[in-house]
Amino acid sequence: MSQSIVSSRPLDRRRFLMGSAGALAAGAAFRFPTPAIAQPAPLKVGFMLPYSGTFAKLGKFIDDGFRLYVEQQGGSLGGRPIQFVQVDDESKPESATDNMNRLVGREKVDVVVGTVHSGVAMAMVKVARDTNTMLIIPNAGVNEATGPLCAPNIFRTSFSNWQVCEPMGKVMFDEGRRNVVTITWRYAAGQQMVGAFAEGFTKAGGKVVEELALPFPEVEFQALITRIATLKPDAVFAFFAGGGAVKFVKDYAAAGLNKSVPLYGAGFLTDGTIPAQGEAANGIKTTLHYADNLDNAANKSFLTAFKAKTGQDGDIYAVQGFDAAALMAAGLSATKGDWGARAQVAAAMQAAKFDSPRGPLSFSKANNPVQNVYLREVRNGRNELVSVAGQAVSDPARGCRAQS
Ligand code: PHB
Repeated sequence: MSQSIVSSRPLDRRRFLMGSAGALAAGAAFRFPTPAIAQPAPLKVGFMLPYSGTFAKLGKFIDDGFRLYVEQQGGSLGGRPIQFVQVDDESKPESATDNMNRLVGREKVDVVVGTVHSGVAMAMVKVARDTNTMLIIPNAGVNEATGPLCAPNIFRTSFSNWQVCEPMGKVMFDEGRRNVVTITWRYAAGQQMVGAFAEGFTKAGGKVVEELALPFPEVEFQALITRIATLKPDAVFAFFAGGGAVKFVKDYAAAGLNKSVPLYGAGFLTDGTIPAQGEAANGIKTTLHYADNLDNAANKSFLTAFKAKTGQDGDIYAVQGFDAAALMAAGLSATKGDWGARAQVAAAMQAAKFDSPRGPLSFSKANNPVQNVYLREVRNGRNELVSVAGQAVSDPARGCRAQS
C-alpha cells in the first residue's frame, strides 16, 4: 500500500497526507449508510520522518516497517483502526518544532512516531514533554531522549547513541588496534557515537589520535581521507548513515585506504547501504543491535514479509518501525484499545517484551530498548553476524530520574 509523498516547504499543508487506512475509512463512510453499531474510533498516528535528503531511505523503511506490522494485524491495533498522517522533516532541526506543533496542534494526532536525526528528535522531545504527547522514536539515538529528558510519554524502539558504540571500543582493542582516528558528521549523533566509542576504547587501553568531522549532511570527504592517509592510524571508526554512508565507504575504498587502514563503525555505516556500496563495503566491521542473518524465527518471517510488501531487503530501520507498531499494540491491548488510559498504556509499553527480529527486546525504566549489540562484518553483500559484542545492553540513562 504505497502512497506518494509530497514534500515542499516545511509548513506546506499538502505535506500532511492521509494514509491509506484513513482514505479507505473516508471512502467507506461515503458509500454506505452510517452503521447502527458504533465502530471504534480510528487512532491517528503522525509519522514525522525524513522522506527526502540523505536519510530519505531510512524514513521510508521505518514507515514501511510500521505499516507492515499494522497490516499483519488487519489494519487495527488493540481493536482501533489506524490512520496515518505524514510529515517530511527533511532532517532539518530548524523546522522540527513547527512540524511537531503542527502534528500535535492542527492534526491532533494521538501519537507521533519519529524521527531519524538526533537534532530533530531533540526538538520533538521538548514539544512532546510540553504537550504531554505520546512520542515513539523509531531511530534517533540522541542520549538525552532517554537520559535527562526522559519522560513517561517518550519511548524509543531503536537505541541510544551510547548503546551501540561503547561496545565497539573493546572489540577494536581486542583486535589489536591501539591508535584510532574517528570521523563523523559534526552533530549530536556523530559526537555522541564517537564519544561512546572513545569511552569504551580508552577504557580498554586504546588511544584516539584525532577526531575528524564535517558538517551534516556534507559529503566532501576528500580532505579528511587525505588526512587519514597522512596519520596512518591502526584503524578508523566512523559514523555516517544513509546516502552519506554510501559515499564515504566508496570514497574510502577509491582512495585505497580499505587495503591499509581497516574501517570500523557504528552499524549504520553499512545497514541498508550495501547494495549501493558494492564491493567497497567488503570487510567493514560494525556494531549494531541487528545483523541480517540473525537466526531467529521473528527475523526470518519479518524479512520474508518485508520483501513481499516492498520488494526490498529489510534492514534495522524497517525493524525499528515494525517494533514501534508492536510497542503501540502492547499498550493498546492492555487497555482494550483505550489510548487515553495513559498511565496503563505507558506501564504496559514499558513492561513489553518481544521476540523482535533483532532478538530479545525489552525496555528500561527510561523507556529505552534493552537489547543485544552484535559485531557484524560485511560478507556476501550483507551484514553477517560475527559475535555478540554486548548481551542485553542497557543505556546508563545518565540524568534520567527513574520513571516508575
Ligand atoms: C541520528 O541522528 O541519531 C542517527 C541518524 C541516522 C542513523 C542513526 C542515528 O542511521
